[in-house]
Amino acid sequence: MKILVTGGLGFIGSHTVVELQQQGFDVVIIDDCSNADEKVLNGIAAITGIPPLFEKIDLREKNQVVDFFKRHNDIEGVIHFAASKAVGESVREPLLYYENNIGTLVYILKELIQKEKASFIFSSSCTVYGQADAMPITEDAPVKPAESPYGNTKQIGEEIIFDTCKVRANLNAIALRYFNPMGAHPSIEIGELPVGIPQNLVPFITQTGMGVRGQLSVFGDDYPTEDGTCVRDYIHVVDLAKAHVVALQRLLSDKNDTNFEVFNVGTGKGSSVMEVIQSFERVSGKKLKYQIVERRSGDVVEAYADTTKANKVLGWKALSSLDNAMKSAWEWEQKIRA
Ligand code: WQD
Repeated sequence: MKILVTGGLGFIGSHTVVELQQQGFDVVIIDDCSNADEKVLNGIAAITGIPPLFEKIDLREKNQVVDFFKRHNDIEGVIHFAASKAVGESVREPLLYYENNIGTLVYILKELIQKEKASFIFSSSCTVYGQADAMPITEDAPVKPAESPYGNTKQIGEEIIFDTCKVRANLNAIALRYFNPMGAHPSIEIGELPVGIPQNLVPFITQTGMGVRGQLSVFGDDYPTEDGTCVRDYIHVVDLAKAHVVALQRLLSDKNDTNFEVFNVGTGKGSSVMEVIQSFERVSGKKLKYQIVERRSGDVVEAYADTTKANKVLGWKALSSLDNAMKSAWEWEQKIRA
């Protein structure tokens, strides 16, 4: 069974390719390498022993997408990670985000609806909820006006898939709304490789731990939370990757109730920025240098998942603790800086 993984050299994509291969799927990766290194293929092969097929394609080039699906007409499913994902950059460059995150989605869906049957997993995000009214967040929490063009592309992407599934019974889709992915594969052959200054908390912490960054800036400690810092749902990237395989298997085996379903993918547990710092200090045995600074605009106070639906319907549950995920992130950081 051949599966296309777009953005398969990226952080979540590469970990998902490993899990797919270990479940016996044939995988072909498309990546434009704008935010990932081709060397990630070696890391995947080091874990699974199977070098995945790889094509460097810019999915914004419609003809390249059409040609690819002609050459790989045996693709039965697509897991679509390829997208730009830096919230701040999306505010500065909205058209780059609408072209790259929406245009490419349309081109892929246009190829899939020509098949007798196609399964499609969409990489979505908890940002669609904005600041949800109640915690933990369930899938029927209202989608709020997006705080950034990046978040808007996830909302629009889900609407495009929903509208297409309504009139194409041959297209079966699941949107997975991620919370905060972190960590690295236990083999430390693959992990997170942020380009430039990390926007996300965990890689900034591990780089600070390695002395690559002077100190962590904590964006505000005056929020209405227990210790004043924001709360998020940090999920081990391998748990997240496994959720994609389970979701794909649900579609391939026609177990889905409707042909477009949405699932929150988190641990169901909220952790504050300070708790994440303390986790790092426990697993590394090092004191982390940090300073409290002003709030970052666009940050929501709290976001952690109600995972009942994924647990019950997908039969999937995140297994890793925060410390175990942090340990893998720290081991990975030490390895790439060695
Ligand atoms: C987490 C917490 C920050 C950095 C974003 C995207 C989301 C998804 C994950 C793609 C917040 C605080 C952070 C730092 C800090 N991306 N922080 N100092 O903002 O929850 O989610 O990344 O899918 O879509 O929105 O993640 O890691 O940036 O921040 O204090 O140097 O850490 O204020 O409270 P976020 P994050």
